[in-house]
Amino acid sequence: MCGIFGYTGKKEAQSLILEGLKRLEYRGYDSSGVAVQNGTHHIFFRKTHGKIRNLEEILKSHPLKGTTAIGHTRWATHGTPNTLNAHPHLDNEGEIAVVHNGIIENYSELKETLKKQGVRFRSQTDTEVVVHLVAKYYRGDLETAVRQALRRIRGTYAIAVISSREPGRIVAAKLDSPLVVGLGREENFLASDVSALLEHTKRVIYVENHEMIVLSKNSVRITDLAGKPIDRKPVTIDWDVSRAKKGGFPHYMLKEIFEQPGIVTAILRERVNASVIRFDELKVAPAEFKKIKKITIIACGTAYHAGLTGKYILESIAGIPVNVDTSSEFRYRNPKVDSGTLVITVSQSGETADTLAGLREAKAKGALTMAICNVLGSSMSREAKGVIYTHAGPEIAVASTKAYTAQLSIFYLFALYLAGIYRTLPSASIRRFLKELFRVPSLMQKVLDDYKRDAKDWESNAHDFNRRYHAQLEKYFSEASHERKRSPNGFFMYLGRGINFPNALEGALKLKEISYIPAEGYAAGEMKHGPIALIDENPWVICLAPRSSIYEKMISNMQEIKARGGILIPIVTEGDKEIHRLKPLYSIEVPRVEEIFSPLVTVIPLQLIAYCVAREFGEDIDQPRNLAKSVTVE
Ligand code: AGP
Repeated sequence: MCGIFGYTGKKEAQSLILEGLKRLEYRGYDSSGVAVQNGTHHIFFRKTHGKIRNLEEILKSHPLKGTTAIGHTRWATHGTPNTLNAHPHLDNEGEIAVVHNGIIENYSELKETLKKQGVRFRSQTDTEVVVHLVAKYYRGDLETAVRQALRRIRGTYAIAVISSREPGRIVAAKLDSPLVVGLGREENFLASDVSALLEHTKRVIYVENHEMIVLSKNSVRITDLAGKPIDRKPVTIDWDVSRAKKGGFPHYMLKEIFEQPGIVTAILRERVNASVIRFDELKVAPAEFKKIKKITIIACGTAYHAGLTGKYILESIAGIPVNVDTSSEFRYRNPKVDSGTLVITVSQSGETADTLAGLREAKAKGALTMAICNVLGSSMSREAKGVIYTHAGPEIAVASTKAYTAQLSIFYLFALYLAGIYRTLPSASIRRFLKELFRVPSLMQKVLDDYKRDAKDWESNAHDFNRRYHAQLEKYFSEASHERKRSPNGFFMYLGRGINFPNALEGALKLKEISYIPAEGYAAGEMKHGPIALIDENPWVICLAPRSSIYEKMISNMQEIKARGGILIPIVTEGDKEIHRLKPLYSIEVPRVEEIFSPLVTVIPLQLIAYCVAREFGEDIDQPRNLAKSVTVE
């Protein structure tokens, strides 16, 4: 939920720290700070609430000199987002500074004990106990002091610590929050993820749980918490900085929406050769999958919607029973999983706390575990028995798009892979499915090309919604309060059936998380069981109605909505004439695609609707309020 960055080397650190924090700002952005060793007996620091540009302004007028520094951008978990609670936190002597990503679960008791020993606390944060513990144990060696402090701590952390008494040295440690070291020439870096390192180096070392790092400009030493040295080979990252930039798009989210056809193509080409499907990194033998009787998929948010779609895919192609659970429910309900269950965790970041905890619960119960992750070396990818990387590249926008279609792509390939192992499909059928799947990226591209061609229409439709939205609100507030029956209903309803039902949930999530407008997704068949009561002139009803085995059912749903004055925006297959009888406000056409692969295509208009509405409302599309890219706390 926060981003940390550290530098020690031959250059002035201040601007490097700022640039690194900007790359990490999507992890949390309610306050930030930097601490520098400058050769005196004190650590110098600057910190402030708000986005990193506020810190940048302060440093312009009050710069910090020094070549060893640590920085932090925060998403508050304990203590309101303000300057006092911003990191770094210093000990009472001002000689030691700490930045931290994670949660110290026993901070209250530690704080009380330290206060009784005369320690003065300045902030409301859990993190501050760390720096006072380090100061308490400091006897001339920072590494030892950090090690002793960590023995007192329960919780999760990625921390970086500097002391004015040990110039040129950073001590860092990790438990359940991501931390990676970047290796340079006469300089070394550390960060919460690789996107902050790529402009300096592509050679990185992933820090594992219960490990400590001592960084100086010419050396990186890894040990376990007992001090035993660890030899970890660096990996070379294949992302370059340009890919982590916006590439000319106004927002990361739009860039990432447009990246999707290319990413799905790359996934298919990388994983399929002459109809043979390969998962080189998986490290689970086919014989282990043969012992599986059922699959449980756990995930959160958009990844959960990918898991729901994965259920339809796996059951229809691989013929194996699949349950899907939100991670936060799975982990606390004493789930019935065992050695006959394959538990798949789906996670873009590979760090989501609830999903990571669910993975651990599944392992403790003897289940075979597999992670579908986007971030190489993430906690989930290293703790699951097997991993399949989506290789979607860095997803910077908080609203997940390309990770979603990459996850779906992996589910298609994995289902076909299992169908080969379980022999639920003849090879000829597997080949036919793969042939059709390889066509899909071009159909996704067609939707994006149409959007570019019709961008003005999309913009005017979003403006039209904005006008209607405010007209409804004005009408409501113009009525005398005793005349008001109820507030205008939720403004968007998303309906889908069958394999497109999860996309209805995903479309609603995309809209609400970046435009803050009420939106709900439903299985269309559920309308009669309550939701249809919401229909009047208010909600805009987005209906996923591509040509499919349940197309007629969707038409009936839309007739019922129309009959009650609802506003229809159907997503239909190109050339659909029947839809016009329903006089939709407007319809969005997608190319014809085999029903089972249709979610890869129908999700794109949903992503674009959310994007256009949020842009029309002037919201912060890439960093929506209250959210962070990776929810690494419960
Ligand atoms: C999706 O747009 C949201 N940002 C959020 O629901 C996200 O999908 C969820 O937090 C899971 O994240 P993960 O894929 O990194 O585990």
